[in-house]
Amino acid sequence: MKLLVTGGAGYVGSVCAARLVESGHEVVVLDDLSTGHADAVPDGVRLVEAGIDDAIGGVLAEGFDGVLHFAAKSLVGESMQDPAKYWQGNVVTSLRLLDAMREHGTPRLVFSSTAATYGEPEQVPIAETAPTRPTNTYGATKLAIDHAITSYAAAHGLAAVSLRYFNVAGAYGRFGERHGVETHLIPIVLQVASGRRDRVQVYGDDWPTDDGTCIRDYIHVVDLADAHLRALEHATAGEHRIYNLGNGLGFSVKQVIDACREVTGHPIPADVAPRRAGDPAVLVASSEKARAELGWKPERVDLAGIVRDAWDFTRSQQGA
Ligand code: UFG
Repeated sequence: MKLLVTGGAGYVGSVCAARLVESGHEVVVLDDLSTGHADAVPDGVRLVEAGIDDAIGGVLAEGFDGVLHFAAKSLVGESMQDPAKYWQGNVVTSLRLLDAMREHGTPRLVFSSTAATYGEPEQVPIAETAPTRPTNTYGATKLAIDHAITSYAAAHGLAAVSLRYFNVAGAYGRFGERHGVETHLIPIVLQVASGRRDRVQVYGDDWPTDDGTCIRDYIHVVDLADAHLRALEHATAGEHRIYNLGNGLGFSVKQVIDACREVTGHPIPADVAPRRAGDPAVLVASSEKARAELGWKPERVDLAGIVRDAWDFTRSQQGA
């Protein structure tokens, strides 16, 4: 298929673009490089360096079989301080994309949604039938886009799949996580191991979990990317399907830090800090629906293996 990957110079987008190319698809990346990196675009892939608002009509006029839409603002804290940036940058921009797809007859869409659409869960593991009550603006904007996609699919025959990511981690060779502002646990801990940061703060050790720290579901970015390929194959005209993507395994913040110590051999000093606003105690996915309907199964579930891939990437970035 000929596929447009928005945000293909970012972390998840670049890994997906690489896997799509390896699977024989023709890929074009549209990215304004506001948070992405031109050198993260896989070899042989054309980069259109522009925003969706400015360029989407012209690009889709070339004719594409589908769009994988990763481009987004994705910092939870920032979304609370500057909501306009998220409503504008995520919702308005995605509506522009949907309208351009309709205008140019682009038949398929795979959208990067998030576990943040659910908010504080009543039950874990979280299934797609769980109530969606986002506790932050980031999650609210992604949920709004999911609703828009549902109506476009029903009214205009779009074949759409939203994938709700839990905690994406790991790397794929030279494609990995390098955010200007880093807020995610594993890259922060690895910054300590690589000497770029002195210590890590553990946001609360009085949560109602076995070791008192928050539990999350860390999914390897390659497993996540492979779910996108399957989603493309299974997308059906007029339907909007939604799938949670996680390992179904929860690891605590302390377990993650211990795994990083084991993999890097660094002592990684850690201090207990106050809880971070908006953090739920436990977020673990049920990916039963993705397994049953997409035939997808995460293959890289070992936490140390996920951390090792992220660590190899971190070191390659430092030329170490
Ligand atoms: N944490 C620390 N110290 C840090 C950073 C994080 O203790 O320096 C803790 C957090 O409190 C949390 C866990 O590590 O308990 C994981 O935090 P991340 O920031 O890595 O990830 P989140 O679970 O907050 O966020 C992820 C995605 C978001 C998405 C959210 C869904 O990164 O994009 O899941 O709830 F919105």
